[in-house]
Amino acid sequence: MSHPHREIRPFASSPLPRHIAIIMDGNGRWARRRGKPRIFGHRAGAEALRRTAEACAEWGISHLTLYAFSTENWRRPEGEVRALLALLRRYLQESVADLRRRGVRLRFIGDVQRFSPALRKRMEEVAAALGGNRGLQIILALNYGGRDEIVRACRALARLAAAGEIAADDISEELFARHLDTADVPDPDLVIRTAGEMRLSNFLLWQTAYAEYYSSPVCWPDFNRLELAAAIRAFQMRTRKFGGLASPL
Ligand code: IPE
Ligand code: IPE
Ligand code: MG
Repeated sequence: MSHPHREIRPFASSPLPRHIAIIMDGNGRWARRRGKPRIFGHRAGAEALRRTAEACAEWGISHLTLYAFSTENWRRPEGEVRALLALLRRYLQESVADLRRRGVRLRFIGDVQRFSPALRKRMEEVAAALGGNRGLQIILALNYGGRDEIVRACRALARLAAAGEIAADDISEELFARHLDTADVPDPDLVIRTAGEMRLSNFLLWQTAYAEYYSSPVCWPDFNRLELAAAIRAFQMRTRKFGGLASPL
């Protein structure tokens, strides 16, 4: 059988974004439109995550960050929070073999101290099991908030200063970035948000200073390689100037 969507790819003639970051939104709306409970949408969202990671690995994207749970998402009903964490546990369990085969590495950002020791242990085990891979790096943002991350970096630097290991004037953008959860990860080139929303919701505040932004109208459970290719193509047609002037052709 032919899969027309499989033919849709980013442009071969211009560079790919090195790092794509996605605010996966609209699971609840997707479920509601089908008369189903919100968790039904989260479950379908996990499939969209798999599809998206697969396409990124195949196309040679180097980093993919996925906003899976924000520091503000604890405000949701306890049952939904529990269901989301259960989905995460299951994803970690079921995906290792497939991720290993695809050459994918996994890393986590966010304040994971808030999770149970058992879940943290599983996160560490999965990351370690994939540590030898050299393909796509997936970065899962869990209990992640941009402001929280910046405050934690400040605390780490203040501790170093108090211990006399650095002076206040040693703090540069580079040193600061090295104390963020994303140390050693290139800044996102492209931020995609689904469900037509146009806000950052506390996502990668520091790192997205010069990211290109793309809003996709589809709810996350419907996101697929066609939508991803459209976002990447839109990115490939933009001119990035970083405050300077566009380079002459
Ligand atoms: C995104 O979908 C998933 C998470 C935030 C974990 P939502 O659950 O926010 O879906 P909507 O925005 O209510 O439709
Ligand atoms: C952002 O989505 C968080 C994640 C995708 C994990 P939300 O649905 O929580 O954001 P708001 O509340 O609409 O800004
Ligand atoms: Mg939402």
